[in-house]
Amino acid sequence: MLKGLIFDLDGVITDSAVYHLRAWNQLASEIGIKLPPEASDDLRGRSRMDSLQVILRYGNQVGKYSDDELAEFAERKNTAYRQSIKAMTRDDVLPGMLQLLQQARQQGLEMAIASASKNAPTILHNLQLESFFPEIVDPDSLQHGKPDPEIYIAAQHLLKLNADEVISFEDAAAGVTAIKAAHQFAVGIGDAQVLRHADYIVPTTAQLHLDQLEAAFDHQFQGLS
Ligand code: BG6
Ligand code: MG
Repeated sequence: MLKGLIFDLDGVITDSAVYHLRAWNQLASEIGIKLPPEASDDLRGRSRMDSLQVILRYGNQVGKYSDDELAEFAERKNTAYRQSIKAMTRDDVLPGMLQLLQQARQQGLEMAIASASKNAPTILHNLQLESFFPEIVDPDSLQHGKPDPEIYIAAQHLLKLNADEVISFEDAAAGVTAIKAAHQFAVGIGDAQVLRHADYIVPTTAQLHLDQLEAAFDHQFQGLS
């Protein structure tokens, strides 16, 4: 039986994924790397330092920089990114998402955030969504980033639920892999090919309806029992 929802943040609750990408592209060009279009899918969901390594791989620059230089690059990107998220408001919640959260709350579903971002609390504050999410996984408490399942298992534990009692939402292939490795029901939001390992895929958040999600979830778990 469905008892909880676990959400990624960037690209699921709000379109901050585009700000991450813009800030990474800027940093990449400053160190002489031109990212190809497919890099945008590779960067989604990855922690800050993992993202930096993805960029260095694209530029054949892995191993070129000291830890201090890498930390400075990450800090530079984060400063640019924080500038972009400053002006976010309730209007930046993606279509259909607020209704979904309100309906879920009315139905008594537990909710948590499983975002790799250290900026998640700032964004939730700017979007005025803090009251929906008493439980947020602290990415600093984790050993491994997505696609490792650790963050989704941690979120499920915060909610005190079992894997077959939650639906988890992602826009990143690495995130869908993480959800499935945690044995949870995965909803992918975005490109059907990129997110093909999800249990349920919609092109945008506007197509998310709680009754339809519950029906798909029930169908899957009835099939297993
Ligand atoms: C994820 C984003 O949610 O958070 C990634 O999808 C980002 O693009 C990661 O790299 C870490 O975010 P931050 O804000 O801690 O640099
Ligand atoms: Mg995301």
